[in-house]
Amino acid sequence: MSALSADDKGAEAVETGAGVTPRHVAIIMDGNGRWAKKKGLPRVAGHRQGAEAVRKTLRAAVEAGVECLTLYAFSSENWRRSEEEVSDLKGLMRYYLERELDELEREGVRLSFIGNPSRFGEELWGKLQAASERTAKNDKLHLVVALSYGSRDEIVGAARKLAQEVAAGKRDPNSIDEASFDLALQSHHLPELDLLIRTSGEVRLSNFLLWQAAYAELLFLDMYWPDFDEAAFHDAIAAYGRRQRRFGGR
Ligand code: FPP
Repeated sequence: MSALSADDKGAEAVETGAGVTPRHVAIIMDGNGRWAKKKGLPRVAGHRQGAEAVRKTLRAAVEAGVECLTLYAFSSENWRRSEEEVSDLKGLMRYYLERELDELEREGVRLSFIGNPSRFGEELWGKLQAASERTAKNDKLHLVVALSYGSRDEIVGAARKLAQEVAAGKRDPNSIDEASFDLALQSHHLPELDLLIRTSGEVRLSNFLLWQAAYAELLFLDMYWPDFDEAAFHDAIAAYGRRQRRFGGR
């Protein structure tokens, strides 16, 4: 286990947002279905346009000098959607990977995943792992895609891991603190979350990065995800820059 202190993760690096680029931005990409409905199109058309918005966002994030971008692409609750929609989303991810991987590589983007992406089946999981391995050394931007992800599940997993270490006599229960708990999370290798954006006008976190969002700035936008683009990303960064971050202090 590596030991990242709060300082290493950047919690103290940005005391006020003013004029500062966030190191880690996360996005709940919501509203694909409503975007499609508004246009009289099938839901899959919204997801397709949503994938285009991902491409634009990625470009803007590289340009802005963001270090890490985490996207909520499929929640653990999304398995309740129709078989057809799940299959469309899987197809889209496969297509996006095939079409964009060379470009991601050229841009110096490292791709990794949190959640339970193996639930997507051996074939897609194999492609996701291969993409992650192929881009592992890139350091321009770390793109983290949350797939079959649920924050409570991630937190329970960390608690289970620590409990197992205690049961095996490898850990003193008194050694469990915020830092060691953080290290037991899947996201332990990511910088402190600075900015969390949700599109579509809904004002909730929907089981996304609940632990990590403790001190993040939250930005809720009325636009549907397929309409999000480079300009919207740069506006969000500027809005973050105007926030005063105090981390509980004064
Ligand atoms: C939420 O909109 C969006 C999703 C559940 C899927 C997100 C997927 C993409 C943006 C495309 C593929 C992703 C990658 C990384 C290539 P919704 O369907 O819940 O919209 P609604 O609330 O309006 O129905």
